[in-house]
Amino acid sequence: MCGIVGYIGRKEAHPILLDGLKRLEYRGYDSAGLAISDGKKISVFKSAGKIIELEKKIGKKPISGSAGIAHTRWATHGKPSTKNSHPHCDCNKNIFLVHNGIIENYQELKENLSRKGHKFRSGTDSEVIAHMIEEFGKKYDFREAVMETLKILKGTYGLAIMSKDFPDEIIIARSGSPLILGVGKGEFIIASDASAIIRHTNKVVYLEDGELAVVGKDGYEITNVRNHSIKKKISEVDWSFDKAQKQGFEHFMLKEIFDQPGAVRDAIRGRLVAEEGVARLGGLRNVEEELKKIDKIIIVSCGTSYYAGLVGEYMLEEYAGVPVEVEYASEFRYRKPILNKRTAVLAISQSGETADTLAAIREAKNKGALVLGIVNVVGSTIARETDSGIYNHAGPEIGVASTKAFTSQLSILSMLALKLGRQREMSLVMGKRIAGDLEKIPKLIEKVLKESKAIKKIAKKYSKYGNFLYLGRKYNCPIAYEGALKIKEISYVHAEGYPSGEMKHGPIALIDKDFPSIFVVPKDSVYEKNISGMEEIKARGGKIIAVATQGDKEIKKVADDVIYIPKTLEILTPLLSVVPLQLLAYYVGVSKGYDVDKPRNLAKSVTVE
Ligand code: M6R
Repeated sequence: MCGIVGYIGRKEAHPILLDGLKRLEYRGYDSAGLAISDGKKISVFKSAGKIIELEKKIGKKPISGSAGIAHTRWATHGKPSTKNSHPHCDCNKNIFLVHNGIIENYQELKENLSRKGHKFRSGTDSEVIAHMIEEFGKKYDFREAVMETLKILKGTYGLAIMSKDFPDEIIIARSGSPLILGVGKGEFIIASDASAIIRHTNKVVYLEDGELAVVGKDGYEITNVRNHSIKKKISEVDWSFDKAQKQGFEHFMLKEIFDQPGAVRDAIRGRLVAEEGVARLGGLRNVEEELKKIDKIIIVSCGTSYYAGLVGEYMLEEYAGVPVEVEYASEFRYRKPILNKRTAVLAISQSGETADTLAAIREAKNKGALVLGIVNVVGSTIARETDSGIYNHAGPEIGVASTKAFTSQLSILSMLALKLGRQREMSLVMGKRIAGDLEKIPKLIEKVLKESKAIKKIAKKYSKYGNFLYLGRKYNCPIAYEGALKIKEISYVHAEGYPSGEMKHGPIALIDKDFPSIFVVPKDSVYEKNISGMEEIKARGGKIIAVATQGDKEIKKVADDVIYIPKTLEILTPLLSVVPLQLLAYYVGVSKGYDVDKPRNLAKSVTVE
């Protein structure tokens, strides 16, 4: 939520900041702005709307200066507008800052500052920080004033701050919102995530909560708010700039749907040993013994990652024999979860920065549970705060609607079921079957992707409808939920995901000729039950699109349109059945003319609770 970019070095900051903002636009896109210092003055441009609006406002004339900060916003406090967009400044226009996060005590601070004569220009919580630095600046130098301010702030922040009086430095700080420092040759790039840095350098320093850095042209110094110096290692980002490009696809979402064979290959590479029917998950090596003893797993996650967790529940219970609960991370800590040393809490998160998931694992840690993670973004907060974990290696996911991260999460969950299962009751034969079939999944996804033209036609036919019911059972029940979420997110049509067996307990009342259903109905152990559900819908005049197994001719008797997926083991069907639903949502969204990579009101990583 919200993207921050900063640059200090020897080049012109203007194009670097704008390019960085475009890379981070998926984090928030309702307004944007930048501030650039040429050593004497700070030039500021802001605009409501996407980055392109900011570019138009700046026009062709370059803004001179080799230090600057920039921001793309997802509004929390104060509606999207030019006045609420960042950078914000103090009364005297000396201090400029960009902020990602929420300042929870801003009202109280604002009232205090107003009493002292400070005049506020925006309706945001962020502006209060600039005025506090100004106020402390009456007694302290810039760096100390920032530290004194940070000691008082409650809430979350990723911050980049400039002062007209100290043009050779940018101060950055983090608490609860991600911030990375890219270390180049004679230049430093600050960003909320690596996608804005990777073009310039793959060397990065991940700031931890409570840390701040004073960054100049020739170096940086990291301390805590008490000014105690901190030594930090420089890490390398393991993906290249190319991976964050559209590579000829019209949208990132489509590219990422087509990335899925590769994403699954990368998730299983070096981990799956098909001949032995095992999965070697190096990231869990240090908790190998604890894993043998766990008798309950609680999965915490949000959105698409939550649905991956629901599929994981079926996988782990059926094949590892471990009881699993799946919790919305946002609800987890408001319940009284029963945890003990034999409970593993597993966080699933593409970004590794989702505030609700982070809060859930912190709660689990407090209660003494073993905390594990399945995370895509290397070095992200969740990856660092879990005891152990498995990286997806799916590469950057830029489209706001999650696609390849999901199938990658499912691959890892199936390997986890294999690992825990083989530690327990699962036979070698079963282990080999699962591992062997999982190895074939990338090729089978390629086959599904070959159907994209046919799926596009179906999408066109159904794009006039305003409501959809998505239905599935057992492993494919969460796929129905995920299909409904996808079409909601990018096509803004109403869709509900339901267990198909639950349909007759209420939702069937909605069905008529204008309310189509999408049935996920592979040839599995619940196939006949699903067919009965389809018949019930057909009998009421409802139209049906079915996602069915190749060779299933019978399905055509009940469904109006069929999308076929190849045959695989029941446990692995979700890895194939979700792909047509992603494509369907994509093509419906595109046919309506929406920006599917940046759906309205959404942001890629939700770093506020
Ligand atoms: O980064 P995370 O996996 O933790 O994100 C969780 C959700 O915010 C995310 O899946 C969201 O629901 C996506 N927009 C789904 O397409």
